[in-house]
Amino acid sequence: MTIRAYAPASIGNVGLGFDILGAALKPIDGSLFGDEVELSEAREFRLNVKGKFADKLPSDANENIVTQCYRGFCQYIEKVGKSVGQVEMTLTKSLPIGSGLGSSASSIVATLNGLNKLFGEPLNKHELLLLMGELEGKISGSVHYDNVAPSYLGGLTLMTGNEETVASNLPVFDDWYWLVCYSGISVSTSAAREILPSDYSMATALTFGRQLAVFTDALHRGDRKQAAAVMNDVIAEAHRKSLLPGFDEAKQFALQNGASAFGISGSGPTVFCVGEDLEHMKNIESWLQEHYVQNEFGFSHICVLDTQGSTIN
Ligand code: HSE
Repeated sequence: MTIRAYAPASIGNVGLGFDILGAALKPIDGSLFGDEVELSEAREFRLNVKGKFADKLPSDANENIVTQCYRGFCQYIEKVGKSVGQVEMTLTKSLPIGSGLGSSASSIVATLNGLNKLFGEPLNKHELLLLMGELEGKISGSVHYDNVAPSYLGGLTLMTGNEETVASNLPVFDDWYWLVCYSGISVSTSAAREILPSDYSMATALTFGRQLAVFTDALHRGDRKQAAAVMNDVIAEAHRKSLLPGFDEAKQFALQNGASAFGISGSGPTVFCVGEDLEHMKNIESWLQEHYVQNEFGFSHICVLDTQGSTIN
């Protein structure tokens, strides 16, 4: 039996919700925007890599996150007195590394979802999500679910901080477009976390809490205007934008040309904006392609939220 598992790209933080909000992405042109893993049982372990960004992965298979997922999965299964066999896996690496699009999360989610399916679903959804978070933590230096949860569950997810229910899905606006633009340079999540202050002022804490509460309430009431108005990043943007050439100009252009909110996707350098008018979004996309993209690796996609999350074929 061969299993094909897919997991979409995602926006960590969604601007206002540092480590707490995440959104899964689906381009409106119908293209896949995430990593895929093909898995089958085999006599001995083997990992193949292909795809646009395969050459950016470690050449030693032992260092590949997909291999680490397999080992983490085996250890978890052994702890509950079961065992799994060897596998051959082929990772199609379509998401750039260090892009802020949840690239490692996409590989982790597709691999663990695929392994679980291949071996008869020994882990439930909740256990699988905890394992995904643990593996993401190995890469980024701290356990945060704001990419693995949306990539696995789909939609717009809120991290609860409670291990019994790691994430819940929030209501979404079907008519919002989510434009993402990757500049083509690489920013490591751990480096982008290290530049953040270890303490924030009382005023910042109050704004952060108020915005998140107002945003969640506005989603439930279907109040697009109020939701967009509080999508401001008071935790990371001011510190991280120094790593993102052209950030201020891009934000200014987007907000003056029809976007209702603009921010850094995850730890960057990808930026995102939301808006309801497709023509405006296309215009902003062309501008970002011309002015924010730094090299041949950059790209952009106009998306809606991927409410399916990771899929298995
Ligand atoms: N919440 C994480 C951060 C997401 O901003 O560091 C990384 O993609």
